[in-house]
Amino acid sequence: MELPSLSAVTVEVLVDNFYDVFEPSRPGVVERVVPGRLKKPLVAAHGLAYWITLEGNGRRTTLLMDAANSPLPLLNNLEALEHDLAEVDALVLSHGHPDHYGGLLEVLARRDKPLPIFLHRDSYLPKLLLTPKGRVGPWELERAELVRRGAQLHENTGPTLVLGQALLTGTVEATTPYETPLPGPKRLVAGQEENDPFSDEQALVAHVQGQGLVIVGGCCHPGIVNMVKYAQKLTGVTEVAALIGGLHLTAGGPDLIRQTIAGLKELKPKLLVAGHCTGFRALTQLALAFPDAFMVSCVGTTVRLAA
Ligand SMILES: [Fe+2]
Ligand SMILES: [Fe+2]
Repeated sequence: MELPSLSAVTVEVLVDNFYDVFEPSRPGVVERVVPGRLKKPLVAAHGLAYWITLEGNGRRTTLLMDAANSPLPLLNNLEALEHDLAEVDALVLSHGHPDHYGGLLEVLARRDKPLPIFLHRDSYLPKLLLTPKGRVGPWELERAELVRRGAQLHENTGPTLVLGQALLTGTVEATTPYETPLPGPKRLVAGQEENDPFSDEQALVAHVQGQGLVIVGGCCHPGIVNMVKYAQKLTGVTEVAALIGGLHLTAGGPDLIRQTIAGLKELKPKLLVAGHCTGFRALTQLALAFPDAFMVSCVGTTVRLAA
C-alpha cells in the first residue's frame, strides 16, 4: 500500500500508566514536560491516549489515538497540556479494550461537530478478562451510542489510510511462533466466549521521509514483532524510526519477554518508547537490552521525528 512520506510526526503521551520526573529527555526527539510549568498536575492511569500530529504534503493533521480508561485523566491532561478537542481531525482506536475507549463518549459530548472515528469492526465485540483474582467484564463499546453522539464511523478489517497521511494496519498478520494469544483475555462472539485473537487490534503507521516508520500501538496484544513485520510488509519500508506503545509483555511471562527482545533486536528500532501494559519487569529488561533506543513512555512526553 502506498503510504505518503511525511516531513514530521509528533506523538505526545496524553495518558499512560507512568509519570517519572527523572526520566531523561533526548533533545529534539523525546522531550519531557517540566511539571512545575503546567497549569495543573498531570495524572497517570492504567489507560492510554496519544495526541498525534502528522505533517506533510502541505497539510497538518491532528489525531487522538485512544481515549484512556476514563474521562478523568484524559480531560485533566488535555487541559494541563493545553490541547483543545476541537482541533482533533479524527480519533483512531487501537482496539476494543475499555482502558483505551473509557473517555470516548465524553470526548464526543464535548465536541460541537461530528468526530470521525477509525476503528476495526471487531472492536464492538464484548471483551472479558480472566485474572488471578477472578473474571472481570464483559465490557462493550456500543456502536449505536457512538453514532447517537455524533461519531462518523470509519470501520475497517484490513489496511486503510487515515486522512491520506497514515496507515491503519487492520488485523495483524501473525508470523512469529512465540506471539500467541494469552489465556486471560476473552471475547464474546454471538454470546459464545472464546479466547481473544485480537483481530480488532491495529497499529497506526506513519512514514517519515529519510527516517523510516513510526509505529504506534495500543496494547500490542497481537505482538509487537508481528505488528512491525506486518507494517514493513504493507508499506515496503524496512527502517524502523520509532516504536511507541504498550507492549503487554510482563503478563506473557519471562519466555515471551526474552523472545520478543530477540525479535526486536533483529528489527533494530532506532527509538523504543514503551509504557502502559508493558509491565515493570519487561520495561526493566527492555531498558537493559536497548540502552540507546529505549525510553519510558510517561504522561507529557513528546516524541518528534522529522525528515
Ligand atoms: Fe491497554
Ligand atoms: Fe488491551
